[in-house]
Amino acid sequence: MPRRSASASSSDAQCPASWRLYIAAAVARENQMATIDASPAPVTGDPPAVTSPSAGGPGDRLAHRLNPVFRKGILLATHNRPVASFVRRYGMRLGAGNFVAGTTLDEAVVNLHRLSGLGLRTNTTILGEAIRDQAAVERVVQSYVGVLDRIAAEGLNTNLAVKLTQLGLDLDEDTAYTNVEQLVIHAASHGNFVRIDMEEFGRVDGTLRIYQRLRAAGHVNVGTVLQSYLYRTGADLEGLAPLEPNLRLVKGAYLESPTVSYPKKSEIDASYLRLAERMLAVDSFTAIATHDERLIDHVIRYTEANAIPRDRFEFQMLYGIRPALQQELAKRGYRVLVATPFGPDWYFFYMRRLAERPANVLNFARSLFRPS
Ligand code: FDA
Repeated sequence: MPRRSASASSSDAQCPASWRLYIAAAVARENQMATIDASPAPVTGDPPAVTSPSAGGPGDRLAHRLNPVFRKGILLATHNRPVASFVRRYGMRLGAGNFVAGTTLDEAVVNLHRLSGLGLRTNTTILGEAIRDQAAVERVVQSYVGVLDRIAAEGLNTNLAVKLTQLGLDLDEDTAYTNVEQLVIHAASHGNFVRIDMEEFGRVDGTLRIYQRLRAAGHVNVGTVLQSYLYRTGADLEGLAPLEPNLRLVKGAYLESPTVSYPKKSEIDASYLRLAERMLAVDSFTAIATHDERLIDHVIRYTEANAIPRDRFEFQMLYGIRPALQQELAKRGYRVLVATPFGPDWYFFYMRRLAERPANVLNFARSLFRPS
C-alpha cells in the first residue's frame, strides 16, 4: 500500500470514536513520555506521575483503561493473514526497525559495539519462533553457533537468549533439549551464557523441564525466565529455588486466559514485586527485566535495604525502549543489559512490542499517513 497523506477530517471519518479517544489519550501520554525519557530518568524517590495508572491526567487514565483492550486486539490480530502480510511488508520501514538491531548479524554487531561503548551489557537473539521443520531448526542451531563464535571474535560482552520453539520444542522436547544443550556447551567453550526465553503458557512446563534437565546435567551457564502474569509462577519459583537458578523476571508478553493469568495490570505489577523480592533471596543471579520505573525504583530500594550486592542482579530492557533510562542506571553503577535481537523474521517480536504499548501503533499509523 503506498503511503498517503491524510487530512484530520478524512482520518476522523474513518476512525471510530473509541479509536479517536484512544489516540488523543495516547498522543498526550506519548508527549509526556518523550519529555521524561529525554531528561535524566528519576529512578529514585517518587516515580513521575505519568507512569502511575491512577495519578495521571484524564488522557493518561483513559489510555490506561483502554490499553488492555487494544493489547488483546493486537495480539489476536497477530495471527490474521492480511495483517501479517501487511506488517511484514511495511513494518521494518514503519517502526519495527526501532526495536530490532538489524536484519543481519553484521548490522547487529555494529549496534552491540555501540551499546557496549555506552557501558551497557547486551544479549542477542536471532528472531524467529514456532519452527516445525527439522532442517530449518538445524539451520538455526548452526546460525547460533556462528553467532557465539562471532561474539567471541569481536570481544563483545554479549550473551545469547533463545526461544525453544525455534530450537525444535514443537517437534519434540528431546530435540529441543539436544539443540539447546549443544548451544550451552558451545557457549561454555567461549565462557559465555545462554538464557532460555519463556513463551506461551502451553510451553512453560516443557521449558522448565528442559532448564532443570540442563542443570541436572551439570550445566551452570544457563538461565531461564519467569512471567509475573501467571498465577503458577510463585510455585514454579519455589520449585526451582533449590537449584539457585539464574532467572530473568518479566511481566509476560503473550495473550493468556484469565484462568491462568492475572487480567489486571495492577495485579501483574504486585505479583512482579513479590516475585522479585523472593528471587533476589533465592537466585544465584536475578535479571529484573522491565521498563517500569516504579518497579525498578522498588527493586533499588529493596536491594539497598537488604544489602544485596549489585553483582547479584541486573536490570534488563529491550533494544530501543527507554534508552535514556538504560544509560542513567548504568551511570549510577547498576548492571544494565539491553536485549538486542536481529534477523529478518521480526514479525511476532514486533507485534508483541506494539501490543505492550498500543501507542506504538499510533507511531506506525503516523508513518503510514506521513506525506512522502
Ligand atoms: P509495562 O508494559 O508496564 O511498561 C512500562 C513502561 O515501559 C511503559 O509505560 C513504557 O514507557 C515502556 N514500554 C514498555 N513496553 C514498551 C514498548 N513495547 N514500546 C515502548 N515503550 C514501552 N516476555 C515474555 O513473555 N517472555 C520473555 O522471555 C521475555 N523476555 C524479555 C526480556 C527483556 C530484557 C525484557 C525487557 C522483556 C521481556 N519480555 C518477555 C517482555 C515482557 O514480558 C513485557 O511484555 C515487556 O517488558 C513490557 O512490560 P514492562 O515490564 O516494560 O512494563
